[in-house]
Parts: sequence; C-alpha cells; structure tokens
Amino acid sequence: MEKLIPDHRRMLDGFELIDFVDTDEIERLRNHLEVDAATNVNWQWEYGSEVAELRALYEKGKQHQWNAATDLDWDTPVSKDDWLMRPEATLLGSACRMLGKDEATQKAAVFDEVCYVISQLLHGEQAALQLCGQLTNLCPTTDEKWYASNQVYDEARHNEVFARFLSSKMGTIYPIGATLKTLLDELLSVKGYHMKCLGMQTIFEGIAVGIMDFMRSNTLNPLFREILKRVEQDESRHAAFGVLTMRRCVREASEEKMHQMEDWAFAVLEALNANQQLDMLQTLGPKYDIDPDELLRTAHKLPNWTELNSEAYMHTVVPNLMRLGLITERTEQSWRDVGILTDIRQ
Ligand SMILES: [Fe+2]
Ligand SMILES: [Fe+2]
Repeated sequence: MEKLIPDHRRMLDGFELIDFVDTDEIERLRNHLEVDAATNVNWQWEYGSEVAELRALYEKGKQHQWNAATDLDWDTPVSKDDWLMRPEATLLGSACRMLGKDEATQKAAVFDEVCYVISQLLHGEQAALQLCGQLTNLCPTTDEKWYASNQVYDEARHNEVFARFLSSKMGTIYPIGATLKTLLDELLSVKGYHMKCLGMQTIFEGIAVGIMDFMRSNTLNPLFREILKRVEQDESRHAAFGVLTMRRCVREASEEKMHQMEDWAFAVLEALNANQQLDMLQTLGPKYDIDPDELLRTAHKLPNWTELNSEAYMHTVVPNLMRLGLITERTEQSWRDVGILTDIRQ
C-alpha cells in the first residue's frame, strides 16, 4: 500500500517514524494558506426527505445547539499551578515524573502538552469547518446538504470554544504540526464527497472523539471537562453522519473503489500514527530536558505499548471502519503491524 508523506520517514528501533526536520519546510507548509481544492456543485430539486435517518439527525442537530459564549462558566480558573490533567495521562507528565522532576515542573509540563494538543484539535476543527462547507456543495441529496449545513455551525462553535479557551485561559495557541497540516490538506483537496466523508467524518471525527474522551476522563478542571463533554456530544452526531453516509457509499462501491477507500483510510491513519507525537515532543521536550527519541524508545519498549498506542484508535475510528467493511482480511495485518489495531474492545 502506498504511504503518505514518504519523504520524511526514518527508522527508530524498528518503528518507521515521520519526522519533519527542516524548519523552513515546516514554515512553508504552515504558510501555505491557499490550498487548491477543485470541487463541483451539485444541484438537487428534490427537497423532500430521501434518507430518513439523515433527516432525523438534522432535527437532532437543531435541538442540540448550544452557545459557547453563554452556556459555559468562563470565570472558572485555569492555572499552571493546578493539575490540568492526571500526569500519567500525558507523555510529558509521565516523563517528568520518571526523571524525578518536582511537582511544579510536572504540572507545567502537563499544562504545556494539553495546550499543544488542544491547539492541534482547534486547527483540526478549522479543517472540519471548511470541509463541511465543501460537503454542502458536493453531497447529492438534500438531507445530506441540510445536515452538513448544521454541522458547519457546530464546527464554527468548536473553533470558537477552543480558541477562546486557549487564548483567554491558557495564553497560547501553538501552530499546527507539519504532519497534521499535510494530512488535513490531503482531506481538503481529495476529490469526491465519498473520500471527504471518509477522511473527515469517519477518520478524523473518530480519532478526535477518542482523544477528547480520553482527555475528558483525565482532566481535573471543570471548565475543560464541560467543554469537552459538549463538543464530544456534537462530534458523535458528526461521526454518525459519517457512518450513515459511508454505509450507503460502501453498498454501492465497486471492488476497485473499495480497495481505494481501504488503502487511503490506512494511509491517513498510518501517517498520523507514524508521527508518534514527535511534532509535539520536538516543540516542548527540550524545555523539560526530554529527548524525544529517548522517550519514544522507552515508550516502545513498554510491554503494553500497543494497548496504549491503540487506545485513541480503538475507541471509535477502528471499530467504525471495521463495521463499514473498510478493514478487511487483505489489509488487517498492516493495521496490526503499526500498533493501531488490537484485539481489545472487540
Ligand atoms: Fe468539531
Ligand atoms: Fe466534527
């Protein structure tokens, strides 16, 4: 299977990592703001409902709107002096603890890592906003167009809530990591609504739900917990749209189209996984005397590494891909080999 980002790979003790080392190239990637995304517009004269489940999801979306400005208690304090998350739930927090750093340093490391991760979620939310706008044009049925329009507003709210939390409560919005930017550009410019739905609605929404759910169960800050809870509720509607739409698409797909979708789904998640949070570790590691390669070596030697590594994937995205028939006997071993697919939760 063809890999994405083939030019930035290197081996670390038998694991193939994606590592962007050239800082000029990273800057170029970040400053590439106008991305070519040739698309078409689909008119639709049938305004009645053709897909009842989607119309129901659209109704549900309308009922569950919320206001990020007024429905949250923005007076809740967020401080580096408190534990924002349980340290064992973060890479830097665990590493600082292992290195015997004092509690204040551990707390600061946890704070920085969470800030980095939310920043990446925010940039992902911006991609979701733009991609969902594309879906209102591309999707063939009225139900899909209406539902996608509903999601556009959800994604704007997610942009608003994470941007506000980062700037007013954490003080920093980290720039997008090079691996994530490359993958999001791939999704935004891929042709056809099937591939866009697969990439954003199924893959990225699924992985985001896994990450958010993990952070929600491990955060000790009530405002952050409430934000994640509300965003996650919206995201589960988005993932449901992905599954409903992809189910119909899979039913109609030729064998060749199925192979194309299976291979591309693997390529996107393999590349995301191949970064192993190196983009974050290279940004923040030095501040805490942490050598990214050393930390990854130690992590990979843990007897439960696969279990830890696969947790965010096994939460939603992998089970959904399996249900859709997009992880098959032909490809299953490749998913296992890179530590994304395990037998837990099956
Ligand atoms: Fe979102
Ligand atoms: Fe979403």
